[in-house]
Amino acid sequence: MLSNLAGDEKRTSLHGHWSSRMAFILAVTGSAVGLGNIWKFPYMAGQNGGGAFVLVYLVCVVVIGMPVMMSEILIGRRGRRNPVATMELLGREEGSSVHWRVVGAMGVLAGILILSYYSMIAGWTLAYIGKSASSSFAGASATAVAAHFGEFVGDWKTVVFWHTIFMSLCVFVVARGVERGLEQAVRFMVPALLILMLVLLGYSISTGFFSQGVAFMFTADFDKLGWGGVLAALGQAFFTLSIGMGAIMAYGAYLPEETSITGSAAAVVTADTSIAILAGLAIFPLVFANGLDPAEGPGLVFQTLPLAFGQMPGGVFFSTIFFVLLAFAAWTSAIGLMEPGVAFIVEQYHRTRAQATIIVGGLIWFIGLGSALSFNVLKDTKFLAGTFFDNVDYLTSNIMLPLGGLLITIFAGWVMCRNSTSDELGGSGSLYSAWRILARFIAPIGILFVLINAVT
Ligand code: PFF
Repeated sequence: MLSNLAGDEKRTSLHGHWSSRMAFILAVTGSAVGLGNIWKFPYMAGQNGGGAFVLVYLVCVVVIGMPVMMSEILIGRRGRRNPVATMELLGREEGSSVHWRVVGAMGVLAGILILSYYSMIAGWTLAYIGKSASSSFAGASATAVAAHFGEFVGDWKTVVFWHTIFMSLCVFVVARGVERGLEQAVRFMVPALLILMLVLLGYSISTGFFSQGVAFMFTADFDKLGWGGVLAALGQAFFTLSIGMGAIMAYGAYLPEETSITGSAAAVVTADTSIAILAGLAIFPLVFANGLDPAEGPGLVFQTLPLAFGQMPGGVFFSTIFFVLLAFAAWTSAIGLMEPGVAFIVEQYHRTRAQATIIVGGLIWFIGLGSALSFNVLKDTKFLAGTFFDNVDYLTSNIMLPLGGLLITIFAGWVMCRNSTSDELGGSGSLYSAWRILARFIAPIGILFVLINAVT
C-alpha cells in the first residue's frame, strides 16, 4: 500500500507514500466506515429522537465534516510527519507558534481513548460471529435475544477476553506496518458490507414497518433534540468521518503530491454517509416490527440484527458473514485510531514500529478495562456523563473531536497562508474559495456555537 516511489519533489514521509489515489481513498474509507456507522449511528439517532438528529448530523457532515477532512489531509501532506510534529513544523513555518503541536497531541490522546472502548465493542462483534455461526439466534424471540445480550455483556470475563483478542489483532497488523493485506481487506469489505446492508434492507422492507422506520429517521421534531442532541450529532459526524484527531492527518502525510484532496474527501464522505443511512434504514423498521425501543442504547444492533437474521431464510449464513464484515470494518478503523500514537512514538522516541505498537496497544487495552467493566461490575458506578464508558465516549466524541476540528480549521483557514493551502488544494477556483469560506468561517463558528450552547 505504501511505496517509496512517489514522484514527490517536495518533502517526503519517513514511512513512504500510498501507491495510488485509490489506495489512499480505500485506507481513509476503511478508517471512516466502522462501528460508528452501523453500531453507533442508529443508537445515537434512536436516543436523540430520530429525524432531527439525522438532519443535524447530515448538515454537520457537509458543512463541517467535509472542510475539516480537507484541512486535515492538506496539513498532513504539507507536514509529512506524525500529527504532533506536523503541527509543530507548520506552526513554525507559517510564522505562528510551535505550540500548535498540542492539537496533534490531543489527537494522539483521543485516538487512544476512543480505541479503548471501540475495542470492547469490536470484541462484542467477534463474539457474535461465533454465536451466529452456532445458530444461537435461529427463530429466537425479541426477549430471548435481549436476554442473551444482557447475559453476555454482564459477564466481565467474556467481555475482557474478546477485548483482549481484538486489541491483539490490532497490535499484530499495526506492528507489521500498514501492508497490502489491509488494502485488500478494505477493497473487499466495503462493497461486501454494502451488499449485506442491502439484503438487510430488503428484509426490513418485508416486515411491513419500513415506512415507520423511515418516518422515525426523517421526520424532524426539534423539540426532542435540544443543544445536547445537536452536540451529539456534531460529535457523531466527527466520529464517523474519523476527523478531529489527526488520523486523517497521519494518512494525508503519505499522500502523493498530485492526488486531488477535494475529490478524495468527497468520495470518502459519500461512502461513509451512505453506509450510515443504510444502516439506519435497515435497523429502525426492525425495531418497530419487534416492539423494541429505539432509545435502547449501545446494545441496539446486537439485539435487532440477530433477531432479524434469526427469522430470515439463510439467516445463520448471513448473520455470520455480517458480523465478520463488521469486525473487519472495526479492524480497519482501529488501525487509524492507533496510527497517530504509533507514528508519534516511532518518530519522537526512536522506537521500532513493533515496540511502539506494543506500548500504545498495551495502554489502550488497560484503559479499555474500565469500559469493559462498565456493563457489568461497574455498571452502577456513575459520575458526570454516566458510567466510565459513557464518560470516555462523551469526552472524546463531544469534546475532544469537535475541539480538535475547530483548531484544525482555524489553523488551515487562518494560520496557514493562502499560497500554502491553495498549493495543496490545487489552484484558486470556486471549489477552493468554497473550502476557504467553510474552513475560515462556517466550520469554526458552527463548532463553537454548538459547543458553547451545549455546555452552558
Ligand atoms: N470512523 C470510525 C467509525 O465510524 O467507526 C471510528 C474512528 C476511526 C474514529 C478512526 C476516529 C479514527 F481516527
